[in-house]
Amino acid sequence: MCHLLLSTLLIVLWAQTLPINGCIDGERRALISFKGRIIDPANRLSSWEGRNCCKWQGVECHNITGRVVKLNLRNTNDDDSALNGEISPSLLQLRDLMYLDLSSNDFATSVPSFLGSLKNLQYLNLSRTYIFGTIPQHLGNLSNLKYLDLGNMKSEAIYADNLNWLMHLKSLKYLDMSFVDLMDVSNWLAAVNKLPSLEQLLLGVSGITIRSNSLPHINFTSLKVLDLNSGIALNTLPLWLWNLTDLAHLDLSYCSFKGLIPHELGNLRSLNTVLLRDNDFKGIFPKALNPLCNLTNLDLSYIGFSGEVAMWTKELPSCNRNILNVLKLSGNNLNGSLFGWLEKMTELVSVDVSYNSLTGVVPIGVWKLPMLTKLDLSNNLFEGVISEVELSYMKKLKELGLSANNLTVRVPKDWTPTFNLLVIKLGSCRLRREFPSWIKSFTELTYLDLSNNAISDKLPSWFWNTFHNLQNLDLSNNQIQGRLPVLLQFMALSNLNLSFNQFEGPLAPLPESLTSLDLANNFFSGSLQIPNPLLNIYTLRLSNNNIVGTIPISICKSPYLSLLDLSNNNISGEVPACLGRSQALQILDLGSNNLLGHIPDSLCSTGMPLVIRTSNNHFDGPFPSFLKQCTTLMILDLRQNKFLGILPDWIGESLTNITILNLRNNMFSGSILTQLGQLQYLQVLDLSHNNLSGSIPLLANFSKLSSKELEFNDDFLSYEMSGYYMYYMVLVTKSEELQFSKTSLLVESIDLSANNFMGEIPEFFGKLFKLQNLNLSENHFTGKIPSNLGNMKSLESLDLSMNDLFGEIPQTLSKLTSLSYLNMSYNNFSGKIPTGDQLQTLNDPTIYIGNPYLCGPPLPIACFSNSTHSYHSDNENEGGLLSVEWLWMYIGLLLGFVIGFWVVCGSLLLNRSWRYAYFNMTDNLFGRFNVTIALLLAKLCRKK
Ligand SMILES: *[C@@H]1O[C@H](CO)[C@@H](O)[C@H](O)[C@H]1NC(C)=O
Ligand SMILES: *[C@@H]1O[C@H](CO)[C@@H](O)[C@H](O)[C@H]1NC(C)=O
Ligand SMILES: *[C@@H]1O[C@H](CO)[C@@H](O)[C@H](O)[C@H]1NC(C)=O
Ligand SMILES: *[C@@H]1O[C@H](CO)[C@@H](O)[C@H](O)[C@H]1NC(C)=O
Ligand SMILES: *[C@@H]1O[C@H](CO)[C@@H](O)[C@H](O)[C@H]1NC(C)=O
Repeated sequence: MCHLLLSTLLIVLWAQTLPINGCIDGERRALISFKGRIIDPANRLSSWEGRNCCKWQGVECHNITGRVVKLNLRNTNDDDSALNGEISPSLLQLRDLMYLDLSSNDFATSVPSFLGSLKNLQYLNLSRTYIFGTIPQHLGNLSNLKYLDLGNMKSEAIYADNLNWLMHLKSLKYLDMSFVDLMDVSNWLAAVNKLPSLEQLLLGVSGITIRSNSLPHINFTSLKVLDLNSGIALNTLPLWLWNLTDLAHLDLSYCSFKGLIPHELGNLRSLNTVLLRDNDFKGIFPKALNPLCNLTNLDLSYIGFSGEVAMWTKELPSCNRNILNVLKLSGNNLNGSLFGWLEKMTELVSVDVSYNSLTGVVPIGVWKLPMLTKLDLSNNLFEGVISEVELSYMKKLKELGLSANNLTVRVPKDWTPTFNLLVIKLGSCRLRREFPSWIKSFTELTYLDLSNNAISDKLPSWFWNTFHNLQNLDLSNNQIQGRLPVLLQFMALSNLNLSFNQFEGPLAPLPESLTSLDLANNFFSGSLQIPNPLLNIYTLRLSNNNIVGTIPISICKSPYLSLLDLSNNNISGEVPACLGRSQALQILDLGSNNLLGHIPDSLCSTGMPLVIRTSNNHFDGPFPSFLKQCTTLMILDLRQNKFLGILPDWIGESLTNITILNLRNNMFSGSILTQLGQLQYLQVLDLSHNNLSGSIPLLANFSKLSSKELEFNDDFLSYEMSGYYMYYMVLVTKSEELQFSKTSLLVESIDLSANNFMGEIPEFFGKLFKLQNLNLSENHFTGKIPSNLGNMKSLESLDLSMNDLFGEIPQTLSKLTSLSYLNMSYNNFSGKIPTGDQLQTLNDPTIYIGNPYLCGPPLPIACFSNSTHSYHSDNENEGGLLSVEWLWMYIGLLLGFVIGFWVVCGSLLLNRSWRYAYFNMTDNLFGRFNVTIALLLAKLCRKK
């Protein structure tokens, strides 16, 4: 009896502590409450019903206590099944929880600080979600934590001001805070040094500073994986690195380390991966790489090496068996050939030597490397002919890069390759007329570059269907005819460049995956269609087509759009005001369309534009007041619109970085301001054809125009060099309208012509030693020419015509040794025309026409010697007016001049093709650039 009672009692007690259904009721309720705050579009938590929560999807209980120990809600499917909503503090009820994985979902909250109270947590993974904000110190309470992943957040910025809390996580083995903003953390290394168990440390793209110094004692010697990519290196590689003798994986890419790669690297014998891409090393010590017998993956791209390639490769591991699989040497200044070294590395799977100056033919042994799946020889000086014979050796090849060499690729149209490529780069490979149909068998192609060949053919009808997996497509600079596929929207394209071809037809709806679209210089028509927001796009260039319609509002929904070039189309209507709110927009080119109204006035309050061009449209209103905030602006081109009113006095203080200010052909009035003189980077000032009046104030502070160095903003250059944008400046010089690209721009110019300026020509012009073009014509300037204009050593074109200038033309002008165009016509100059030096060559009488009191050559009017009023010529009857014979002679001279002028200046005109040489740099430059933008955006969001 007693026995039975006792048993019953025991059973009741048992039932209370460990429920028969295997789940503690309080924990079950906590999970239900947790679920209640979650939005679960794909119904992933549908199994979260019934009493036994231990059986629910993602939940694991301890097999004795029945308490929940593991919660794994990582999203392993596509984005559609991502959970979002809140992370409820009811999780605190799960007090034995050891493992929490919420990664790859869409939770968009701040880092939940209550997680610090889950004392038993050993594994915490919140990576790849939208979690943002500061990392709470409370996480320091998780003293059992072994694994912490807060890296690779999807968008909103997550950051930490200090890492002191880390020191308490004594058991930590794995720490990933990649892309967490740690710019303000002063001593991350001291915190890490308190973690003796740490095996993997991933702090890539977190903005940490890496100092060269050593540490008094090094605690984290168990480290096997170290990723500090994109850190800010202050100098040479840090000394503490050489004590991490267990290190197997080292990533110090994109850090700008200087100095030499020291031989101590060779002591880290366990290394199998060494990634040092994008640093500024001077060279490498002997024995730094030789002893690394386990090295399989080596990336020494863009690290500033130069010289003979064979000399560098001697330093590669030289063990009994070289097991190097991956070798990247691209973007150095290496010369020499591939002979004698590459063929011997028989284990190589992937070789990238692109962007060097390597020469010679490609040795046959290279084609025969048995394991090769990737070979990139692009952008070197290799020569010779490559045919299907060479290509046939490569049985395993997946990626082939031959672009931009002195190579000729000749493969019969109907050849059937025995391998299946995913990546083909055959830009500038002298492919001829017919489209290379032999690529048709590569149905899994993701990257195709056939740019800059002489393909003059229809795009085959099978093209878009066969290559439906394409992510990068560059067919630019051929003469390919074709259309966009109707289903373009459903392709996975990231980069699409069809520029400079003969594509036609309407624009198809664009795929959401696009990061860069370039359809410039084709015959596309129809309107711009963006049905889904282009969430990933950085650059969008549609210039020089026949696009009509308005700019769709959906373009405002592209958070990273930094370049928008719609110039030279037929786009009409107003610019959507929301366009200005894009934080990322750096270049906005709307030139030569039919747009009207206002430029979006928030352009500079949120972003930092470099170029705003609206020339040749019907924009109106006063000088846009939002420009007051545009301190980053380099180019402002409002030429040929209907702007009016005065130029505001803040221009000089606000547009401090402006290099080109073009307001030509508007209706601006009032006087110009001394403040313009503060624009120290100004190279081109064109205020011509307005109604400006008054005298010219002192603009002598144009220090750029008077100094020596010519500088370009790096950001801007990266757009031009990567071929993403060309600013074509229309410059009227020497009475010709010329187009210059910004990079080829060596012109410094002031054009104030066709206004109502008056007063004397100020003397400060004489100090602008670098000025090449000065046009003051069609104004009311009076007085004499200041004699110090003769100091303008660079002046090539001087136009003072149609003013009220008088007096003698100063002899000093003969010192203008660069002068090739001069116009003094229609003034009241008198006396003898100066001769000698440069003026001797400018012997066209029309230069001086309309000045009845001038005499001497080249005019046919002789001067009376020793007379101050020597303007009466022998044949005064014909006077300043010319006889018919003279007139014909002048026309002949003028024609000769114009032709000569074109021979010289035609070469200055932009040659389009130069930009293609840079095209393939795109990946690299832009990869870097994206990282910079990502960091910048993160920083910006955070500051909000
Ligand atoms: C409980 O689970 C652990 C592993 O999680 C296992 O090693 C152990 O054998 C299990 N015990 C029982 C009683 O099932
Ligand atoms: C090394 O780790 C130990 C134990 O965690 C700690 O006491 C010591 O302060 C650490 N040393 C340094 C230099 O941080
Ligand atoms: C680093 O290693 C060297 C030699 O292996 C040793 O002499 C030195 O004390 C170590 N430094 C620290 C800080 O542990
Ligand atoms: C090199 O790799 C082999 C095989 O993975 C391993 O056994 C050996 O310990 C490694 N050598 C070093 C120095 O880490
Ligand atoms: C290209 O190679 C040919 C020989 O194949 C050579 O004659 C020519 O000079 C090379 N051109 C350049 C630009 O190196």
